Amino acid sequence: MIRKAVIPAAGLGTHFLPATKAQPKEMLPIIDIPTIQYVVQECVDSGIEDILIITGKGKRSIEDHFDRNVELEQRILEREDEFWYNELRHIDSMANIHFIRQKEQNGLGDAIYCARFHCGNEPFAVLLGDSVNDSVIPITQQMIDAYEQYHQTIIAVQQVPAEKISRYGVVGGEFLSDRIMRVNDIVEKPAAEAAPSSWAVAGRYILTPEIFAAIERIPSRADRTVELTDALKVLLQDEPVTAMRIEGTRYDIGSKLDYLKTTVDFALKRKEFAEPFAAFLRERLNEFDKK
Ligand code: G1P
Repeated sequence: MIRKAVIPAAGLGTHFLPATKAQPKEMLPIIDIPTIQYVVQECVDSGIEDILIITGKGKRSIEDHFDRNVELEQRILEREDEFWYNELRHIDSMANIHFIRQKEQNGLGDAIYCARFHCGNEPFAVLLGDSVNDSVIPITQQMIDAYEQYHQTIIAVQQVPAEKISRYGVVGGEFLSDRIMRVNDIVEKPAAEAAPSSWAVAGRYILTPEIFAAIERIPSRADRTVELTDALKVLLQDEPVTAMRIEGTRYDIGSKLDYLKTTVDFALKRKEFAEPFAAFLRERLNEFDKK
């Protein structure tokens, strides 16, 4: 049973400057909801209510977002705006959210290592705080279902084109069925020619507690970062690891173009915006095509 989730949200957001100079990339809104709120919602929709968010310097607004804002609530009550009052109260009560700070931004493996006391001897879900998904079954639920079948580390994967492969962790292995691969290799951000396959790590994992010992065993890279991918490679020597093809669409808000695409897609799915926004886009695209 997976009861806990860890959301690493300590990264510096260097791909989204200047917006991320003084605000966390995880707080960038997709229309009006901060990205990390979608990620927390994915946990809740997958039955997980114990969530540890790994933050760091400059990330305090994430804690504020999931805390109460009594003054604001009071104002909204005075206006008898029940809808927004309930929305605000929903955000601070959606899950049991804990926070811990990663003291130096030393990579994803180091961030996950901060969760060792919180997770103890239990397997746990990891959801990267800068990606959201749109799927019929929440991706984390899909991961939990796979864990319950295999009782092993599960890595979410998606196929990506060769020109993008070097942005991802990439797994190699053998497919046992349409969606399940037995992993025999994993490499962080390989050059396209060196990638073991076209299957990229997609921001969601179920990790066994053995990952913490594996993180201890790997040396830091030249830039002092400790990569989760390197720890998973070490773990492969001791226990089987499974990759699961995700069913759904993954949106990465870490890159500006992907963030724009995400916003457009989400706007076209929102009842109140779909029609007028589509009309606006059609008009603009016609003008754009005529140029
Ligand atoms: C991280 C992981 C990488 C993974 C990617 C997307 O990289 O290190 O293995 O493929 O997330 O899930 P980042 O995007 O933080 O550089």
